[in-house]
Amino acid sequence: MHRANTPTKPRLLILDEDRIIVQSLSQFLRREGYEVNGSGDTADAMNLLDGQQYQLLLADINLPGLKPAEFLREVKRRWPQLVVIVITGYGSIEGAVEATKMGAFDYLTKPIVDEEIRVVIEKAARQQSLLYENQTLKQQLNLRFGLENVVGHDHQMLKVFELVEAVADSRTTVLMTGESGTGKSLLARAIHRRSPRRDKPFIEVSCGALPETLLESELFGHVKGAFTGAIADKKGRFMAADGGTIFLDEINSASPAFQVKLLRVLQERAFEPVGSDDTKTVDTRVILATNVELSQLVAEQKFRQDLYYRINVLNVKLPGLRDRLGDIPLVANHFLRRFMQDSTREILGFTDAAMAALQRYNWPGNVRELENAVERAVVLCRRPQIDVEDLPETIRFYSSRPAAWLVEGSGEMDQAMPLETAMEGPERRIIERALNRNQWNRQATAAELEINRTTLYKKMRKYLLDVGETN
Ligand SMILES: Nc1ncnc2c1ncn2[C@@H]1O[C@H](COP(=O)(O)OP(=O)(O)O)[C@@H](O)[C@H]1O
Ligand SMILES: [Mg+2]
Repeated sequence: MHRANTPTKPRLLILDEDRIIVQSLSQFLRREGYEVNGSGDTADAMNLLDGQQYQLLLADINLPGLKPAEFLREVKRRWPQLVVIVITGYGSIEGAVEATKMGAFDYLTKPIVDEEIRVVIEKAARQQSLLYENQTLKQQLNLRFGLENVVGHDHQMLKVFELVEAVADSRTTVLMTGESGTGKSLLARAIHRRSPRRDKPFIEVSCGALPETLLESELFGHVKGAFTGAIADKKGRFMAADGGTIFLDEINSASPAFQVKLLRVLQERAFEPVGSDDTKTVDTRVILATNVELSQLVAEQKFRQDLYYRINVLNVKLPGLRDRLGDIPLVANHFLRRFMQDSTREILGFTDAAMAALQRYNWPGNVRELENAVERAVVLCRRPQIDVEDLPETIRFYSSRPAAWLVEGSGEMDQAMPLETAMEGPERRIIERALNRNQWNRQATAAELEINRTTLYKKMRKYLLDVGETN
């Protein structure tokens, strides 16, 4: 489990006033294969922790003149990776329970039984190596992509990272397409941060949030008296982003008039504020996001084709979370770690059942929904691992039974379930029969069902009808 550069022997520090205890514990733990140092007072112990990297601290913190809570907080602050096990004298169990609430991993009561300590320390060491693995994984990602906070190892995400990496340096217009919550805003920022413009402003405008009349003056500014309420000149967001990046979110909802103006800025880097003939020029990098395929809007004549061509220079497509189920453990653990930073409790991870539920759910709200689910679970969780019961009801639902289509006669089942789930059984049977009729030729099957081939393929994958196929 350890990587080559992980210390193979966990290093452990024992802090106890009682020298006999320090000695006997050290002896026992050295035999168990740990590297052990001991100390009799807190100041000395802190010096030792500063001097070398320790994985574990075993400490009796009921020392005269020491406030256990403060001590623990200080230790957590200075050595966040250190796993702390509290040793307490007989009868001070309550203090020990308090200690675990304040971030101690576990506690042992004196007299310490060898077997007990072996189990606790092994568990703690496992947690340590888990933390360590997570950290190196993150560092590797940062190193490779430099996109801290953007998590994903699915091939589609790796492609996204590559694209972002490739264009960050330039001032190329970037269009991001993806459902809500897939990370469009997060990536727009990441591009800005990785560009030479990083020290200049990053201005975000949600084109869907503003009424058409306001949007224009908001972006391009206006002169005093241009319209009722224009009591002074306003410079507008494009100008505010001069030298930096402007992020136009929900561009699909831009009005026809606004589209014309936008086209001009993109082509000529020039515009006139509302009510003015004075042409302004700006040097702004434009990033746009849409949650609707723009080509589709162009086909429906809801979006100007010339503008579409102008902004579709580089289209980064963000996959929905349900299309990268393999990333769910990585992303869920990423959020778990983040929310634990604000909490004193230690949660080791997710139970297998909880993770299975997360991977079975279809995530209409994508990463944002997962983020919220993990935040909620961290608050609710009372055990070392997040379990199914800590998840929102909709997600829990998916874990409480096998996928409906796996159950014989499902769809006709006399059980409460969402319509979508209930439809899975019949849908699978319809597709399977159509495939059989067409000798499993996808083209013909898709044509018969009047769906496109991608949709058919996705459904085949969902219902495990693509088993044995090579692509
Ligand atoms: N790949 C990812 N890794 C980590 N966090 C992500 C990722 N994608 C999205 N998020 C987080 O999910 C939430 C929604 O992302 P956001 O960029 O606002 O989505 P969008 O703009 O597409 O609606 C944010 O809190 C964001 O930090
Ligand atoms: Mg957004």
